[in-house]
Amino acid sequence: MTLTRMSLQRSSRFQRLISDSRRSKQLLVLLILPLMMTSLIDNGEAAWQDGIQPHIRVSQLDESDLQRFMGNRSYFKLLEQDGDSLLVGARNIVYNISLKSLDEMKRLEWYSTNDDISMCRLKGKSEEECQNYIRVLARKSEDTILVCGTNAFKPMCRHYKQTPSDYEVTKETSGEGLCPYDPNHNSTAIYADGDLYVATVAQFSGTDPLIYREPLRTEQFNFEHLNAPSFVSSIHHEEYVYFFFRETAVEYINCGKMVYSRVARVCTRDKGGAHKFRNRWTSFLKARLNCSLPGEFPFYFNEIQSTSHIVDGLYGGKPAQLIYAVFTTPTNSISGSAVCAFRLEDILKTFDGPFKGHEDVNFNWLPVQNSKVPEPRPGQCVNDSRTLPEMTVNFIKNHNLMDQAVPAFWGKPIVIYTGFKYRYTHIAVDPQIETANGKKFDVLFIGTDNGKVIKALNGGSAGGASQNVIPVIVEEMLVFPQRFPVTNLLVYHTAQEAKLVVVSQNEILTIPLHSCNKHARTCSACVALRDPYCAWDTSQRICTSSKQRIWKSDKFVQNVADGWDARCPEVPSTSTSTSRTTEQIVTCPPCPVKCVCPNGPGYIDNEVDDIGRPLNKDTSPQRSPQLSRHDNHLGSRPIPQEDPDIRPNISPDSPDAARDYHLIYTAETLAIAVTSSIVSSLVVGFISGYIFSRRCRTEEMESPYLDEGPYGETQPNARIDPRNLDTFLPVSVNNKPINLVLNVPPKTGKTANSSADNKPLQKAKKIYL
Ligand SMILES: *[C@@H]1O[C@H](CO)[C@@H](O)[C@H](O)[C@H]1NC(C)=O
Ligand SMILES: *[C@@H]1O[C@H](CO)[C@@H](O)[C@H](O)[C@H]1NC(C)=O
Ligand SMILES: *[C@@H]1O[C@H](CO)[C@@H](O)[C@H](O)[C@H]1NC(C)=O
Ligand SMILES: *[C@@H]1O[C@H](CO)[C@@H](O)[C@H](O)[C@H]1NC(C)=O
Ligand SMILES: *[C@@H]1O[C@H](CO)[C@@H](O)[C@H](O)[C@H]1NC(C)=O
Repeated sequence: MTLTRMSLQRSSRFQRLISDSRRSKQLLVLLILPLMMTSLIDNGEAAWQDGIQPHIRVSQLDESDLQRFMGNRSYFKLLEQDGDSLLVGARNIVYNISLKSLDEMKRLEWYSTNDDISMCRLKGKSEEECQNYIRVLARKSEDTILVCGTNAFKPMCRHYKQTPSDYEVTKETSGEGLCPYDPNHNSTAIYADGDLYVATVAQFSGTDPLIYREPLRTEQFNFEHLNAPSFVSSIHHEEYVYFFFRETAVEYINCGKMVYSRVARVCTRDKGGAHKFRNRWTSFLKARLNCSLPGEFPFYFNEIQSTSHIVDGLYGGKPAQLIYAVFTTPTNSISGSAVCAFRLEDILKTFDGPFKGHEDVNFNWLPVQNSKVPEPRPGQCVNDSRTLPEMTVNFIKNHNLMDQAVPAFWGKPIVIYTGFKYRYTHIAVDPQIETANGKKFDVLFIGTDNGKVIKALNGGSAGGASQNVIPVIVEEMLVFPQRFPVTNLLVYHTAQEAKLVVVSQNEILTIPLHSCNKHARTCSACVALRDPYCAWDTSQRICTSSKQRIWKSDKFVQNVADGWDARCPEVPSTSTSTSRTTEQIVTCPPCPVKCVCPNGPGYIDNEVDDIGRPLNKDTSPQRSPQLSRHDNHLGSRPIPQEDPDIRPNISPDSPDAARDYHLIYTAETLAIAVTSSIVSSLVVGFISGYIFSRRCRTEEMESPYLDEGPYGETQPNARIDPRNLDTFLPVSVNNKPINLVLNVPPKTGKTANSSADNKPLQKAKKIYL
């Protein structure tokens, strides 16, 4: 209602202006022009990362670089690094694998008993389900490990003592509350300060989710504590244990069903409350994680899938502790995945902020006023939680959700993929890789559900502005040609070795973290990789991952933030940066739909970098052809470059600067084109309309018919010449009947009304304020 009224007021004001014939034209132009411009530029700058393509695509890995472990092809899932060995929880077996060679060192076999299996079968479960899936693995002491498994829908935990050749069971207990019954349920566990913390599902039916550390748990069957959660990971840091999961959002329940991502935390010192709270957490709090594309209506990636460890680093010169996480959209919506980073400080800040609460089931969730929060503040770590007043403990029972969502560091995702080919499943981070110019970057390895690993980073993370995201996708590797989903990832980076452990359900592989020399043979190609591991050695003339780049940095050329460097001889470095940009504008004409401009310094040019080496698809990594940055971001096929020869003249600008220039350039052109056509049609329309109106004025003047009835336009003998109206302003053809009626001022009312359509006006307002 208010909207319509506003638009009506605005339009009637407009009509007056417009009927004031001469001035009106200018005003209209002035009004429409910025609208057109802003809406166009706005579209161009949308945060969707259109057309960001990997610099290298590898569809077949070099067998000699790989290590492979097949075991018994038995549902590898859980990974625990134990020094130089890797413990892999699988079906009925825990493998102890050397990280150096990926050879099996030892194995622990634990099959369910026949009794348990037949009981499980009796309950109607399949043979596949009635096995022992290992879900908890933790080192309790020097020689003891704790293992819990689903054990044919009868979860059990065992303590195993390590002997040089074998493992001996020393203790066996029920695994209720520590391990799910159903192998499909997602759970997570972590051993911290001598205690096991788990987030899992209890009960055969799987209806009792809980976060548990003996004897404390979350409230049972309380949807506000946990609502059909899928647990993703757990992290111990200082006095807290954090859990990451997604769950049905209880604060959204009045509006339909929605899944949100959460971080929850408990204090390691929590001893439970007094009396009836003695086996309940007094410190369990949770908050939403906000991984979204900012905008008037943010686009949310709501379903967390995996997190990294805590990464300690310098970002724009400031220290921070980050947790990277992979998010996806729900499976039944537009398929999209994103990686966001969250700063530990922001998580803590959210937990120190207002709580969310609601008066009654049907009331909205609102922030709880400070005055209603008891003292001492609930959810803090205290020496002895059993001495907390009942007020505090009772409050937290009903208010464990924080009002604010944890904002993403940098304010938006680092990389996004929208398209139907795959979704991200997992993430591992090799933190703070130092480059030749002293900047440090976190290298992200992202697994997908079709067997790929994507190497990506934020090229702007070392830059000054803390809001800087320059998504860089260095490499996309097809690790499992059978397209098995990647179920886990681990970076193993020692002084001697650097490799990535990639796990699928029935295979474990290691791949090198980098192969600089294979991917680039020239200085400019090496720098264009934007790979923090790879620098161009100017004396040996190779693209190398040598550590010397850090202490002999003047001998090495590397520039991750920009992807080009003036020191590379193949690149003409005569022109200054300004002339380069103009050159770019000249070389790339306005492209209406798909621009195949030969820029893209981020891409490898086959002719430049591949000196004398035939590109054999079966044995060498495949390069992506020169790709357009204006490629469809919904995963359309890359367009081959049309004219690769032009490229060397123009490349050496920052690709992102180049992209921005393109956007502004094309947007401007379009805006100018559109506005000039509008202006010219206005002029023509105005002149003809003016002549007509002069002619018809005598008849029309003071025509009372508009006041006669509410349906003016249906009046059979309405005397307005429709041609007159249509030519006066070309924009005004489709009008709604009501408008004509309500806009009392006669004659030109119709035209003015439509041009003052309130939508773009609002938009303009928002942009300028
Ligand atoms: C598992 O594989 C090993 C060799 O890797 C083999 O000796 C053993 O029989 C297999 N076990 C099962 C249950 O298939
Ligand atoms: C795994 O094997 C290595 C090498 O044999 C050994 O040092 C390590 O203690 C083993 N770990 C476990 C948990 O068995
Ligand atoms: C566990 O997580 C996987 C991967 O996100 C998902 O496909 C599956 O549905 C989850 N299981 C349950 C029981 O929610
Ligand atoms: C999430 O972040 C975006 C962008 O930073 C912001 O616009 C939006 O309001 C945030 N959403 C919530 C629920 O905090
Ligand atoms: C908590 O205990 C530690 C040592 O156990 C002590 O240093 C600290 O002062 C105590 N804090 C409070 C608030 O009692």
